[in-house]
Amino acid sequence: MRGVPELRVRRDELASCELVDGEPLRDDLAEGEAQLLVERFALSANNITYAVMGDAMGYWRMFPATPGWGRIPAWGYARVLASRSPALTEGQRMFGLVPMGTYLTVHPVAHSRGFVDAAPHRAGLSPVYSQYLSVDGEDDDAALVLRPLFGTSVLLDLVLSEAGLRGAGTVVLTSASSKTAYGLAHLLRRQPPLQTIGFTSAARRAWVEGLGLYDAVLAYDRLSDLDVPGRAALVDFAGDRALVRRVHEQLGDALVRSILVGFTHWQAEADKEPAPGPVPEFFFAPDEMVRRGRELGQRYASAWKHFAPVAERAMRVERVTGGDELVRIYRDLLDGDADPAVGHVVSLEPGSST
Ligand SMILES: NC(=O)c1ccc[n+]([C@@H]2O[C@H](COP(=O)([O-])OP(=O)(O)OC[C@H]3O[C@@H](n4cnc5c(N)ncnc54)[C@H](OP(=O)(O)O)[C@@H]3O)[C@@H](O)[C@H]2O)c1
Repeated sequence: MRGVPELRVRRDELASCELVDGEPLRDDLAEGEAQLLVERFALSANNITYAVMGDAMGYWRMFPATPGWGRIPAWGYARVLASRSPALTEGQRMFGLVPMGTYLTVHPVAHSRGFVDAAPHRAGLSPVYSQYLSVDGEDDDAALVLRPLFGTSVLLDLVLSEAGLRGAGTVVLTSASSKTAYGLAHLLRRQPPLQTIGFTSAARRAWVEGLGLYDAVLAYDRLSDLDVPGRAALVDFAGDRALVRRVHEQLGDALVRSILVGFTHWQAEADKEPAPGPVPEFFFAPDEMVRRGRELGQRYASAWKHFAPVAERAMRVERVTGGDELVRIYRDLLDGDADPAVGHVVSLEPGSST
């Protein structure tokens, strides 16, 4: 009997991926274990970052694979199929990190809003990555795609505002077409007279401009046109260190803060020359989430009310089923060919594909 498909990629060659038989439906759960059915999961450039940083940030440890291969985590909804743990009951629905497959065995320990997977291979990872939140009734695909991304936008807005932006009147954002970047641009616009300038690929410039979320939008090849009236901060989502250095050089003394958030341009050449000006700070959302706890949940809920209609205009959800479609989307994301106007949601649930 053919098993259920799951995506795995070569850790040292991310373009090399294949569908393999994933974890099967189990009837041999040990005491303390539970098995979840992955209903669906979202995909964006953020998942490519998880793969690129798989070793450095421990993402490969979330779902162990055969040596040399990795199972990339994705944010998804999952339902408890069977449980031999007092922390979970059958039928409960959860939101959290899942493998790009169908079934997931966890070692649940009760948590105020759901459970934590205490599986030994997760030891030492950020607790945010092992938490599963109870989401009974929640079914919104747009929220599934945007929750971790807009959550990061909300955190960045907090981090920037708290320090009073160090006097910056302009925020420059790279990979301006990414959901996390334009979520932040939307939040920053609510703080006039702050100005935002978005940098993006030439082919995406018109689309980003049409979002109406940035005060100005420039293509990467127009970096020499970058000019700000006073002080500026850079929030980098592209991860292209040469680009970061050129922004630092172009802004000179006007640049007061530089924050590195993402690695969408993961194929960019390494750049060994350090950038002049402020030392870039690495931003890691899970650390900020742990630090802020409940305050963040309330902040997110109120920010989402304003952002939901913006997201509805900017992003259409495409839900696909089956392993072949998963591979197609993964390759598009890896190559930078995915349409930023689309939010991808994939289901490999048995019976969901034709
Ligand atoms: N540090 C953290 O804790 C944290 C948390 C959440 C997200 N992030 C990061 O934020 C970034 C945005 O994530 P997202 O999920 O919001 O992205 P997304 O919406 O999928 O972004 C799509 C855009 O990213 C750029 N891009 C994607 N893949 C590329 C490739 N292979 N080559 C060149 N450009 C590529 C392109 O933008 P342009 O043409 O405009 O460059 C593309 O339009 C990611 O790097 C993600 O990891 C970091």
